[in-house]
Amino acid sequence: MGSRDVLRRIIGIDPDAPDRFGHTSRRELDISHHVILYLDEITVSFDGFKALNKLNLAIDAGELRCIIGPNGAGKTTMMDVITGKTRPDKGSAFFGQTIDLTRLTEPEIAHAGIGRKFQKPTIFEQHSAFENLELAMKADKRVRRSLVATLEDADHDRIADTLRLIRLDQQADRPAGLLSHGQKQWLEIGMLLMQEPKLLLLDEPVAGMTDDETMRTAELFVSLAGQHSLVVVEHDMAFVEKLGGKVTVLHEGSVLAEGDLATVQNDQRVIEVYLGR
Ligand SMILES: Nc1ncnc2c1ncn2[C@@H]1O[C@H](COP(=O)(O)OP(=O)(O)OP(=O)(O)O)[C@@H](O)[C@H]1O
Ligand SMILES: [Mg+2]
Repeated sequence: MGSRDVLRRIIGIDPDAPDRFGHTSRRELDISHHVILYLDEITVSFDGFKALNKLNLAIDAGELRCIIGPNGAGKTTMMDVITGKTRPDKGSAFFGQTIDLTRLTEPEIAHAGIGRKFQKPTIFEQHSAFENLELAMKADKRVRRSLVATLEDADHDRIADTLRLIRLDQQADRPAGLLSHGQKQWLEIGMLLMQEPKLLLLDEPVAGMTDDETMRTAELFVSLAGQHSLVVVEHDMAFVEKLGGKVTVLHEGSVLAEGDLATVQNDQRVIEVYLGR
């Protein structure tokens, strides 16, 4: 993959393509009703099979939400709908009050402020951690500049701050390919953060991490909430517990239960869905 292809995949932004909102301004996000993401009766069918079936979901601005549910429940498909990768057959999806996600392309959705992390980290292995963040920042179309422009002090500070946040400040100059699996995941999260997303979607972010890395990731996400809104899909219950937010249980493409972790874990229908497998 060339560097532009990698950027396109990581941050959903094509460095060359013109975008509908202009190069320097991001379309205003209206969260006056405190809801940043609103899915209403979303249905997605694959050859007649409903991967999502009248799914309803509302995420508050600044919220840290966990989505759990058995394999095949529709969690990844839900993220595909939010990011424009999959078009729903029915239903609506709004980012803030006014941005209709079903009418935007994937790059437009990324540009509007939704960042997505895939399970496998996609980073530039031969570049240092610092350079990875630099490349992600320079691909941000809101700040029009060339990929070879020199860094200004403020940019340098932002990268250093982000490296500290993702606990890679001691690894800034190491080639990313030499980082541990967990550190690579953090680096990709850092690359997303360089785009200043309002909403972050993270699909099984701690898969393959050590227990220690998992707990550090939970701390990172808790620290990002408020400033950002996060939707985290995860099977690791210790991690979900540590995040401490509201939990939504998906089953067969719809919401089965919602509430704090203890409440949903004691819900008879949830127990049956997990034990019935
Ligand atoms: N492109 C596709 N074509 C056909 N079926 C699909 C497609 N994508 C997903 N599905 C089906 O839709 C259902 C939901 O899949 P999805 O990947 O959203 O589940 P999930 O909750 O993310 O599961 P997991 O926990 O295993 O990641 C599954 O039965 C899956 O096989
Ligand atoms: Mg999945």
